[in-house]
Amino acid sequence: MDYPKIIKKQHESFIKFVYASVMAKEEDVKYKLNDMARFKYRHMVWAMQDAVNAGVKFNMDFDYNEIAKIKVETEDELIEVLKDDLNQNIALYEGIDNPTINRFRSDDEFFLEEMNFFDVEGEITAFNESKELPGVELSEESKSALIFFLMEETFKEYELITIYSYLKVHSDIAVANSAFTDLAYDSIYHLKRFADLAAKMGVLTLPRPIPHEKYENIGVVEFLKENIEEEMDAEKQCLILAEKIGNKYLKDFLLFISRQEVYHGELLQRALDAINK
Ligand SMILES: [Fe+2]
Ligand SMILES: [Fe+2]
Repeated sequence: MDYPKIIKKQHESFIKFVYASVMAKEEDVKYKLNDMARFKYRHMVWAMQDAVNAGVKFNMDFDYNEIAKIKVETEDELIEVLKDDLNQNIALYEGIDNPTINRFRSDDEFFLEEMNFFDVEGEITAFNESKELPGVELSEESKSALIFFLMEETFKEYELITIYSYLKVHSDIAVANSAFTDLAYDSIYHLKRFADLAAKMGVLTLPRPIPHEKYENIGVVEFLKENIEEEMDAEKQCLILAEKIGNKYLKDFLLFISRQEVYHGELLQRALDAINK
């Protein structure tokens, strides 16, 4: 069984579905694509865990050209790209009969079927660079600051999801493991919210693969210390933007995210304390 290939495909699939869920316009479609994205994330992590258990090495690289296939003009085309993606995944499972792959196959086949019922006919506007947030008046300065923030932070959230997931499957310390799981899921939520705003403003940017030195051969203590800093920095970036955004809802949203970042620091600190005990 080619674990690295299956992991890479699930990874690309996860990215495509998260971004597609913010690109789509219909609430029902967004909601279902987001659920599928969550499952593709789980598929990726389960495949990673199986690879670790089998002693197979892998990395978190993906093919940018593969995920860039979602940069299409219409929602119809987007759904076709996603179906093609799942078909590619299913093809990889051929001839394999084990509980993990059987689960993947069953999920993906149902998702394919579910997508046949999607009623989509809109244009994709997530990349049109309109730089306007529909229904919200913002000064030019606030708009630029928000766009810069969204581009930086969507990438950082993606990076954290990837690194936390990698460390989770390579760690056998229960407290750290549980913290990494919570952090990855909170980061998926942040990524989704930031990407959603970026898509509405037509400035959605896709992630790039992460350099291996960011996650390979890192001691867990060193990693935790570095990432407490990262989380504090994320809090600070939210606070700075909240002060200058000039819109109550966006300000409250940013403050809400900033307090979650504080809690991320706390989760990492607890993991650190458990390890140092
Ligand atoms: Fe975050
Ligand atoms: Fe965070």
